[in-house]
Amino acid sequence: MPPPARSPAAGARRRALIIPLMLLPLLLLLHLTSSPSHPPLPPTRKPSQACDYSAGEWVRDSPAESSPRYDHTCKEIFKGWNCIANGKANGRDLLRWRWKPSGTGCELPRLDPRRFLERHRNTNIGFVGDSLNRNMFASLICMLRGVSGEVRKWRPAGADRGFTFLRYNVTVAYHRTNLLVRYGRWSASPNGGSLESLGYKQGYRVDVDIPDQTWVEACSFHDVLIFNTGHWWWAPSKFDPIKSPLLFFEKGEPVVPPLLPPAGLDLALEHMITFVNKAMRPNTIKLFRTQSPRHFEGGDWNEGGSCQRNQPLLLEEVEEFFSLDNNGTNVEARLVNQHLIKALEGSTFRVLDITRMSEFRADAHPSTTGGKKHDDCMHWCLPGPTDTWNDLLAASLETVER
Ligand SMILES: *[C@@H]1O[C@H](CO)[C@@H](O)[C@H](O)[C@H]1NC(C)=O
Ligand SMILES: *[C@@H]1O[C@H](CO)[C@@H](O)[C@H](O)[C@H]1NC(C)=O
Repeated sequence: MPPPARSPAAGARRRALIIPLMLLPLLLLLHLTSSPSHPPLPPTRKPSQACDYSAGEWVRDSPAESSPRYDHTCKEIFKGWNCIANGKANGRDLLRWRWKPSGTGCELPRLDPRRFLERHRNTNIGFVGDSLNRNMFASLICMLRGVSGEVRKWRPAGADRGFTFLRYNVTVAYHRTNLLVRYGRWSASPNGGSLESLGYKQGYRVDVDIPDQTWVEACSFHDVLIFNTGHWWWAPSKFDPIKSPLLFFEKGEPVVPPLLPPAGLDLALEHMITFVNKAMRPNTIKLFRTQSPRHFEGGDWNEGGSCQRNQPLLLEEVEEFFSLDNNGTNVEARLVNQHLIKALEGSTFRVLDITRMSEFRADAHPSTTGGKKHDDCMHWCLPGPTDTWNDLLAASLETVER
């Protein structure tokens, strides 16, 4: 359970009210001369503890309410994800849906970029994971740059990319890692070994207890980390189970008998959760984002699958796509989550559950406009649903005492 909420903003407002009025001009002067970028936190709809933001429905917003939070000129948008610039027919229309959590009176507030920067002043926030976490990172950067353009672009602590918002001293970085753990090509040694004696000739060596170099330093650098992994564990085209299987190693030795990827994922998660708990300072915040669903119809990505929807899926369609019983093309979303939830149970990680809300959004992938030979029904248009993931992130961080 998350700790009980307390609102620093509410305290500040109360104090502000009892300050004698005569002091106001002086305070204003001090305020103007000392720190122009230090206004009190604007009041905002507080996210409520009682609300479960992961369950709900997408409702149509009026055009006025659904103004884009940033536009296609944000430079951090990877080319293939820029659905508006690339002319995706519903590139603008897909923004007109708002996530409505199911509890009575529950609303997921939109991330307020100014408030976010103010609240996280002097904080380092890192995304660690595959390209879907980069997608979420890019969304956050675009939102924040809209209100605070003075940035330093750099690569902190081994990051693939990162920005410091200079007026607030907030750093947001992306650390690229496919499996979280270290892996590389493996081929049979002429001197033999336990894998060789089982007939393995080549594959990928995956060290389940060694974090990928790209994020080792992230643990001591960042105050908030958002992890993900999943797609690469279920990527037979990359890690063909016959031609190039994942071969798991622990303490430098092959795990024998060899494990299938789902069991390897369990081991890797167990080790990485332990590693992060040791490596991060106390009072840091660890979040694990659940699996991002894909929406391939009529075949997988390399079988001509596509996602030509103009609206979110209906409830029945979501079940058809993702229910484990149906074992459809995109079934890995819920499968991966089973492994994540099991591994995170009883840990100090918070779960950022974006799967359900995203399952509906078959309309929000780059599709044929992704600039690849095949349709992209895996990444998300920007602006798009990962903006809502960041709303959830902001709401989750609001409930943490700092
Ligand atoms: C900026 O934030 C970092 C990370 O919290 C901190 O170490 C550093 O002292 C801050 N710099 C300033 C000038 O406040
Ligand atoms: C699910 O489908 C895949 C491929 O279509 C198949 O290889 C696998 O055996 C199926 N799994 C179950 C539990 O039916």
